[in-house]
Amino acid sequence: MLQKKIKNSTSKPCNKVQTTTYEAASSKYSAVLKGYYNDPFLKYFVQKVESRSPLINRGYYSRVVALRQYIDLFFKSLDNAELIQLVNIGAGLDTIFFWTSERYKNVNYYELDFHELLIEKTDIINNAEELKKFLKYEETNINDKKKPKGLIDCTNYKMLPFNLNECGSIEQKLIDHNFDFSLPTLFLCECVLIYLEIQSSDILINILSDIMKNTSCIIVYEQVSRCVYIYIRGI
Ligand SMILES: C[S@@+](CC[C@H](N)C(=O)[O-])C[C@H]1O[C@@H](n2cnc3c(N)ncnc32)[C@H](O)[C@@H]1O
Repeated sequence: MLQKKIKNSTSKPCNKVQTTTYEAASSKYSAVLKGYYNDPFLKYFVQKVESRSPLINRGYYSRVVALRQYIDLFFKSLDNAELIQLVNIGAGLDTIFFWTSERYKNVNYYELDFHELLIEKTDIINNAEELKKFLKYEETNINDKKKPKGLIDCTNYKMLPFNLNECGSIEQKLIDHNFDFSLPTLFLCECVLIYLEIQSSDILINILSDIMKNTSCIIVYEQVSRCVYIYIRGI
């Protein structure tokens, strides 16, 4: 029962599937501390500093480096694009926004996850100057009644609270957050589809391929049986 409630607080993640992001953050941080790769932003998001075995460290190193390479490939293939959208589906406490924003100035970044988790992430970011400085605000970032309060909603970074098992309304959700279907867009699924109903992940991928009107790509890194593999598909 992945969705079983284990906590009952409005500010903290309250179902078990949301807590998987703590495990991912701690494991990535273990690899960072051992020098496998660099991530100066991750320390803010780690609840528990833990040391993992070399096999686990290497696994997380491969995961992060592979994803970073594919993100780079996408951006480099669109060298002249004025603006590129990056949508992190089931982003959890991931730091990809900060990594990407340091390298590329032409990114509008969207994050989808449960509301409670995004609230927690917003609090972390708002309390760390090193993170907050990446957020760009413009006059147009006015309060919109359709958008939930208390989540990051600036020009280059928008959080969309969303249950991916109810993904029929994803198009409207994106529209509400000024998503542009005609811009080149990269979707990321890093260890999230595994937690969805099979039907939901099929619907999600089909909807995304239907609604996009420009070069789009989805990077899927998921556990499949006992194998973990990377699949990259143009949509
Ligand atoms: C293992 S974590 C991965 C987080 C991040 N992508 C990473 O790799 O570091 C899985 C994430 O998927 C999110 N998730 C799982 N099922 C979801 C659903 N039905 N709707 C929204 N988010 C979901 C969880 O809340 C969690 O943040």
